Amino acid sequence: MAMHVFLAGGTGAVGRLLLPLLLDAGHRVTAASRTPRGIAWLRAQGAEAVRLDMFDRAGVLDAVAAAAPQVIVHQLTALADANLADNARIRREGTRNLVDAAHRAGVERIVAQSISWAYEPGEGPATEETALDTDAPEPRATSVDGVLALERAVAELPEHVILRYGMFHGPGTWYEPDGPVAGRLRRGELAADGSVTSFLHVADAARAALAALDWPSGVVNVVDDEPAAAHDWMPVLARALGVPAPAPSQGRPGWARGADDTRARTAYGWQPREGSWRDCFERLAADRPTVPVTAHAGAAR
Ligand SMILES: NC(=O)c1ccc[n+]([C@@H]2O[C@H](COP(=O)([O-])OP(=O)(O)OC[C@H]3O[C@@H](n4cnc5c(N)ncnc54)[C@H](OP(=O)(O)O)[C@@H]3O)[C@@H](O)[C@H]2O)c1
Repeated sequence: MAMHVFLAGGTGAVGRLLLPLLLDAGHRVTAASRTPRGIAWLRAQGAEAVRLDMFDRAGVLDAVAAAAPQVIVHQLTALADANLADNARIRREGTRNLVDAAHRAGVERIVAQSISWAYEPGEGPATEETALDTDAPEPRATSVDGVLALERAVAELPEHVILRYGMFHGPGTWYEPDGPVAGRLRRGELAADGSVTSFLHVADAARAALAALDWPSGVVNVVDDEPAAAHDWMPVLARALGVPAPAPSQGRPGWARGADDTRARTAYGWQPREGSWRDCFERLAADRPTVPVTAHAGAAR
């Protein structure tokens, strides 16, 4: 059924891939951005756009009331500078404002972005029933508290889907060949230890958000099905990037355990179309130019 969607975070890593999916599926979309550039981009895609800072409470209340959507999709993060305190603030205050706006406007349904690595320490991948890591020390406590605040606020709406996404890779993410993870690998700053990560291609994150418009209320891990220790995935990424892999080691923080995707797969019939992190990192290797880009550019001058 076509719906009117209010998309918060439509210019972000997931939002910019999700917007065309929503429009192609026949949904009407009102999307928000803080910047003229964001507004212009949203309009060019075919969305109705509102200039809005999610910390402007009155503005959020007015914008959602004016749009009167049937569902809110929350893809807000504040990670452009990888600042976890900023991100916790948007989770706490931005979500509070959005949910209060939903209450006022009579919006009953929300789909929201969360993460799958806020679980308490333990052995093996965490399921949705695993408790969140409320005893974590700082700086992790700031992130977990932000996640808790987001998820609690979102769950106030009668229909709510909380997408606990894996660690994104793919275009526009930290794992791009010229992104910060590649940079740290090149500089030898990363440890290939036993820390387990559940990954997710960002295009699959967008597809899951579209599908979640029809999913039942609750939390769901949206991750690929290959939780991997750093000493397993890092050599594959290093090989793809053409840089030396760090020496493998053991040990991990207890919370670095990955997440279980059984609910998404079996109850909702969802699976990543891009494959696992392994497939995607290996594809990066296939795409890597055999002549270094800088040498090629120099030769052309
Ligand atoms: N699960 C994960 O691994 C995960 C999750 C999220 C992000 N990341 C990573 O973090 C990096 C940055 O993410 P990103 O590119 O999505 O950028 P971002 O800076 O986190 O912004 C995401 C979205 O939130 C919106 N936003 C942020 N603060 C806002 C505010 N105060 N008011 C209104 N809108 C606000 C932005 O809109 P405007 O800027 O247009 O206003 C944008 O649409 C990427 O590398 C991404 O992969 C990873």
